[in-house]
Amino acid sequence: MQKPVKEFAIGVDVGGSSIKCALVDLSDGALVGERHSIPTPAQDPVDTLLEAIAAVVSLIPGDHPVGLAFPSVIVRGTVRTAAHLNKAWIGQPLATLAAARLRRRVTAINDADAAGLAEQRYGAARGVAGTVLLLTLGTGIGSALFIGGKLVPNPELGHLQVDGREAEQRAAARIKVEQNLSWDAWTHELNMVLKELHSLLWPDLIVLCGGITENPEPFLAKLRCEAQLRVGALRADAGIVGAALATAPVESGGA
Ligand code: BGC
Repeated sequence: MQKPVKEFAIGVDVGGSSIKCALVDLSDGALVGERHSIPTPAQDPVDTLLEAIAAVVSLIPGDHPVGLAFPSVIVRGTVRTAAHLNKAWIGQPLATLAAARLRRRVTAINDADAAGLAEQRYGAARGVAGTVLLLTLGTGIGSALFIGGKLVPNPELGHLQVDGREAEQRAAARIKVEQNLSWDAWTHELNMVLKELHSLLWPDLIVLCGGITENPEPFLAKLRCEAQLRVGALRADAGIVGAALATAPVESGGA
């Protein structure tokens, strides 16, 4: 019997502070070779960020298709919001611009949707039916929503008002650092956000992702939520893996 041909794609995760990139084996979500990371020129003009993406992708040999996870609403490859990027990004056809620059096929997807795809296919949400909500706690709060295994793209729940303030202004990982919040104070904010989200969506499972969840001991036991809570299994690689998966959508994709 012939062995199935392995498929690979490059996943690029453009975060508020760094651009992370690696080659991904689409058959098991494993990173192949080195993982690269460079700072994100978040407030620079569109061209500078595109150039940075091209530079990091060029570190990986071959002409594999590229999946771009971007910290914005992405509709059919076009950027529609820019909460933590230069506002000039709004309206830019990211997938088309990057494909021209990289001279290959590019798929663009919201960064939290990408992390969600990875956690659903290979991580903490694998095999979970019903409503699954994934939150990325980083520069902002990203959200991915799955209903019956199908991605509902771009939910933007990080901008939900929770008792008069945006969820991501309360409980993004950046806020803990910038406001020098204790674990207790930050967990209190996150619990308010979880309570509000639960009361609106009644998810069966909430998966928490982002750098701050790499070492969850200081806060995990303090979290209170009626839904089952899990920490992402792919940790800091979820965005990269999900971006790569988005180049070969099975039945759900973001762009
Ligand atoms: C953006 C989202 C993004 C999230 C995480 C939010 O501010 O509006 O699109 O997914 O940050 O990067």
